[in-house]
Amino acid sequence: MTNPAFLEVTGVNKSFGPLQVLKECSFSVNKGETVVLIGPSGSGKSTLLRCINLLEPPSDGSIRFQGKEITEDLRNADKLRAQIGMVFQNFELFQHLNAVENIMLAPMKVLGYSRHDAHDLAVELLKKVHIPDRADHLPDELSGGQQQRVAIARALAMKPKLMLYDEPTSALDPEMIREVLDVMTELSADGMTSVCVTHEMGFARRAADRIIFMEQGSIIENASSDVFFGGEVSPRAQQFLNQILH
Ligand SMILES: Nc1ncnc2c1ncn2[C@@H]1O[C@H](COP(=O)(O)OP(=O)(O)OP(=O)(O)O)[C@@H](O)[C@H]1O
Ligand SMILES: [Mg+2]
Repeated sequence: MTNPAFLEVTGVNKSFGPLQVLKECSFSVNKGETVVLIGPSGSGKSTLLRCINLLEPPSDGSIRFQGKEITEDLRNADKLRAQIGMVFQNFELFQHLNAVENIMLAPMKVLGYSRHDAHDLAVELLKKVHIPDRADHLPDELSGGQQQRVAIARALAMKPKLMLYDEPTSALDPEMIREVLDVMTELSADGMTSVCVTHEMGFARRAADRIIFMEQGSIIENASSDVFFGGEVSPRAQQFLNQILH
């Protein structure tokens, strides 16, 4: 028997009242893979990510993570979220805590780290995201790119098995986009399994194993990076790419 996929989404539907936002979405991600999710505004990308860590329960369908159905018992959502790191467009750091304290909080609260061990971990993670000298800065004393890297370090502090990124660079000035994408690329190269909503196609080319294109709640293309960037894309996906690249 072949190993089940690390993350397996099958026939997921999601409606908000009468509005069906996800329609029979199915895809899988193997351990260590990076998947980039693209598509027009309102196509359901954020909702799909939010279903994967149960910030939104799917209306129906199956989501298996590490072989286990996650939608079966919603009381386990906190446990699941502890294993899945999420990075948002607007960083969402705690404004009254400095960089190192932002990173220390969850390991102390959720993983039972001592203050000392959490501090060591936070310092190590700030090195990993290339801002070791910003430990005692408050979020509003950091650039957007630095804040987003603190947010990534904060997610990594929980030792996640999967990282979800929802347009992590779209609130950043152009010169800061690269430093965040570089960190994401390094994490992918180190084998972090990731699903990234981003229209940064340079990153997709460097880091992604697969590209998924969504439109109006449906996955209409799911191609390996080689096929996708080799030019074998559907006319609809190509039209979308032309829009975002020009
Ligand atoms: N909590 C909610 N209640 C009602 N409708 C919602 C809710 N969240 C999302 N929607 C609707 O679901 C649809 C998909 O939204 P979603 O945010 O997933 O799209 P997206 O692809 O991430 O778009 P964008 O590129 O603008 O971020 C939209 O029509 C949106 O208005
Ligand atoms: Mg979105």
